[in-house]
Amino acid sequence: MLDKVKSLLDEIPLIKVKTLADLELFRLKYLSKKGLITELFEEFRNIPADHKREFGQKLNELKQMAQEKYNTIKKELVSQEEGSGDEDLTRPAFPFPLGSRHPISIVRREIIDIFSRIGFTVSEGPEIEDDNHVFTKLNFAPEHPARDMQDTFYIFRNSAEDSNPDDILLRTHTSSVQVRVMQSQKPPIRTISPGRVFRNEAISARAHCIFHQIEGLYIDENVSFADLKQTLLFFARELYGKETKIRLRPSYFPFTEPSAEMDVSCKICGGKGCNVCKYTGWLEVLGCGMVHPNVLEACDIDNKKYTGFAFGMGIERAAMLKYQVNDLRLYFENDLRFLDQFKTAL
Ligand code: DAH
Repeated sequence: MLDKVKSLLDEIPLIKVKTLADLELFRLKYLSKKGLITELFEEFRNIPADHKREFGQKLNELKQMAQEKYNTIKKELVSQEEGSGDEDLTRPAFPFPLGSRHPISIVRREIIDIFSRIGFTVSEGPEIEDDNHVFTKLNFAPEHPARDMQDTFYIFRNSAEDSNPDDILLRTHTSSVQVRVMQSQKPPIRTISPGRVFRNEAISARAHCIFHQIEGLYIDENVSFADLKQTLLFFARELYGKETKIRLRPSYFPFTEPSAEMDVSCKICGGKGCNVCKYTGWLEVLGCGMVHPNVLEACDIDNKKYTGFAFGMGIERAAMLKYQVNDLRLYFENDLRFLDQFKTAL
């Protein structure tokens, strides 16, 4: 028995412990409740009385040595894991990955910036609207097809057949903000309204059920179609480049009279014709017109004294032209591989 203790006294100093795992094995083998040293302590009871003293001394020596070895190695290994304490604390940290602005936000900011330089303020309205602000006050006849469930997401309808000014719906255009501004402010009014709009469309590369628009409204005494044209020419040249030409084609919107659609010369081919402009040299970018007298009246603005113009454009459309990204779905999927490419843009 004493030999066993002596051989352990020789063995333990030679055992190599390099890792915390080795150390745990060491503890299990010698120091744990079922370890060799504990076993020897149990056997101590059976030692004849005259040997007890010598055996006890050696056994205590063994236990102390094993425990000390365990403690010192543990201290060393733990401090190694935590770092030696002499790292270079002045070294720059790993940079956090920087996000980037969404291309729609970039274009929206750019458009807001252009109009704010000529005195337009920004106003916003709710995405959940009523029929009154989206259609009725904008001179949509009760039977107008735009009110149809096929186009409009209704949240609450008063009747299955007829539209009602109190119906609750997701706005289908930002023109609803015009109404809110006219109802709450007195002319002169010069404002643009960016925002999200919703239409019941099947999602494809060319259509989406959510998209963004910017609405413009200018109301004062003696505002004419010439003011509209000059404002839009300024805008087009700022956004699409100094060489840009515009053309206005007659169109129809219930809330403007006369109404027009504006094309800009295709900057990809310089107007010569390419597949982006479908070989016409022109790209359609917005709808516009003189605010219909019925709309002014519905919003309590004196239509004898005041006139105004309005326009509305899709932000995705502008972004597609700017970045040549022609699948609308990419703007909504938030795939980082796509968004990361706009890092350098403002
Ligand atoms: N609200 C129209 C749309 O969603 C766009 C528009 C056209 C707005 C003419 C206007 C306007 O203010 O005058 O298609």
